Amino acid sequence: MIRNIIFDFDSTIINAEGIELVIQNALQKIEEKERDDKLKQLREITNTVTNGEMPLSEAFHKRFALAEITLADVKAAAEKILETINPTVKETISALQSRGKSLFVFSTSFEQIVKPVAKELGISEENTFANRIRAQGNQVLGVNEKRPLFMSMGKVYIAEWLKNEGRLEGGDTAVVGDGFSDLAIRKNNIAQTFVYFSGANSRPNIKKQADFVVDRFDQLLPLFCSTEELSNESAEAFVISSPPEKEKIPQIILLENIHQSAKNRFIQSACNTEHYKVSWSEKELCTLAENANIIGLRSKTKLTAGVISCLPNLWAIGAFCIGTNQIDLTAATNSGLPVFNAPYSNTRSVAELVAGEVIMLMRRVIEKSSAAHQGKWLKGASGCTEIRGKTAGIIGYGHIGSQVSILLENLGMSVIFHDIADKLPLGNVRRAKDLHDVLTRSDVVTLHVPDTPETRGMIGKKEISMMKTGAFLINASRGQVIDLESLRDALIKKCISGAAVDVFPEEPAEPKAPFHSPLQNVPNVILTPHIGGSTQEAQENISRYVSEKLLRFINTGATIGAVNLPEIDLPRVPGTHRILHFHKNVPGVLAKINSVFARRDINVEGQILQARGTVGYLVVDVDSQISAHVFDIMKHIAETIKVRRII
Ligand code: NAI
Repeated sequence: MIRNIIFDFDSTIINAEGIELVIQNALQKIEEKERDDKLKQLREITNTVTNGEMPLSEAFHKRFALAEITLADVKAAAEKILETINPTVKETISALQSRGKSLFVFSTSFEQIVKPVAKELGISEENTFANRIRAQGNQVLGVNEKRPLFMSMGKVYIAEWLKNEGRLEGGDTAVVGDGFSDLAIRKNNIAQTFVYFSGANSRPNIKKQADFVVDRFDQLLPLFCSTEELSNESAEAFVISSPPEKEKIPQIILLENIHQSAKNRFIQSACNTEHYKVSWSEKELCTLAENANIIGLRSKTKLTAGVISCLPNLWAIGAFCIGTNQIDLTAATNSGLPVFNAPYSNTRSVAELVAGEVIMLMRRVIEKSSAAHQGKWLKGASGCTEIRGKTAGIIGYGHIGSQVSILLENLGMSVIFHDIADKLPLGNVRRAKDLHDVLTRSDVVTLHVPDTPETRGMIGKKEISMMKTGAFLINASRGQVIDLESLRDALIKKCISGAAVDVFPEEPAEPKAPFHSPLQNVPNVILTPHIGGSTQEAQENISRYVSEKLLRFINTGATIGAVNLPEIDLPRVPGTHRILHFHKNVPGVLAKINSVFARRDINVEGQILQARGTVGYLVVDVDSQISAHVFDIMKHIAETIKVRRII
């Protein structure tokens, strides 16, 4: 357990650099233009030295060279600092002291500034360390260069001296600060914990080496105290600046007229649900979806990296469709947002359309129907056949291809297939030797492959010429798979008898845009506007599938089916609360988190970790009595991306 806490003074206890304030006062005496230039130099010196890129002694000399400093400048800065101490700092310090913690203040600033503040906070003079001014009359010449805090490693030197004196005993030691010299105390193994305080400055290089990151003083209390210490009623009451977190009612926004059943499902599960018919622009998303925990969308709403960074309250994204191109998956991943879609909810719809088209093509229904509409009576049976006993060749025996095989086999066809992967044939379906084998043996060839460099243009002039004379070709997979000009030639020359095409290399972006294809007006060709998966049942399946995934994530943290994050599904343990922790996938995070728990005597009831790429996902179940404390700790672990508690 942490017993001793060393606080950096500048930009931690006070919201500024003490020496900078003194020099800023001194610079008031010179011309504005020159002053601005010197203030800029002053900031640069502070940043360079705090990042450990300049020796402290050199920084002192450079700073003192910027202005003529008087003791009055120091006094004025000290008074200003004393007036502006943040009440939360005072409350936290006194809460830590009343729980038996030994507190120290280390500062490279002047004693005249540091000591009054430490006294005001109740930190004893013997625990306060700062630099001593060297002055002549009213003029400040510099600092006493023989004292350790004049040197870059001065804070380490003092911490080591305290340790050797036996003044850092009774438990672990922690350092709170934002500088290289604060981090160095932990790196030299004098402290076991370094907490980066990201109040006034941003120092990513220091931050990434921290154990915890906080931006308010009150966030320190749960990191340094055990649950018993926190609930110790005899200790001074701690005023928490932000209200205690209650379990939130999830806020759901559904866009683009997602099937009503999704809305009903969320409402049944006590979620606040808004359902809109339209898609939202990036600007609308950033302003109107600020409080959303879940956004459900289809293909039109674009979730860019910029939009995702505007939505800090988001937990997950539901793509109520097949594709996820409209979402910046890298940004979603790096923000700890699982993306759920419905890749196979319209499989049956596509398979049924293909089965129907096989009959329509072999009976030349489209031709005869168009003629009938124009008052012609094409009753003849010439070129019209039953499908029973014919051979269907399926290219791509995945979800859709295998469903098509079942339907066609049940209609009396014999079915063969070609697939690059090893697939178990269903029913009496047979695997063909290769693509050539399927093309030469089939009366109808139907394509069900994904869009890959290998499948683009896989059916061209040569492949079509291998097909049986009078055969049929169907494509409801991806537009680039067939060369449509070659198909048109083969149809016009009557090498093949008909085709059905649902997907095209270029498809209109919206219903009113014109559509052009080389297959238009070619006899016995069915052209459909990418409707293979467009049925009410498919929409309902998608809606049910994605909303169930989202609800499981909301209620248990399960990420099974997420396209971008590690997949975890851990049953809930009665009497526990669950913490979901997305973190940067760097070596040793789990060991670090477990040692954080062990040091605070926190007993974990269950946990599971999975990592994928840049992100790790840890699910931890802890006793409900201590979950708020564990949640507070995990929020501030330096590698944390997102954390949520399920009560
Ligand atoms: P899937 O991934 O389950 O199956 C694809 C199969 O193709 C796999 O078995 C794979 O091994 C195989 N394959 C990949 N490359 C191949 C190659 N070069 N030669 C032979 N086989 C190859 O995909 P699913 O769900 O069956 O979808 C198939 C296609 O249908 C996809 O392109 C999808 O985009 C499209 N689709 C079209 C719809 C529409 O409205 N028309 C609706 C839904 C899907």
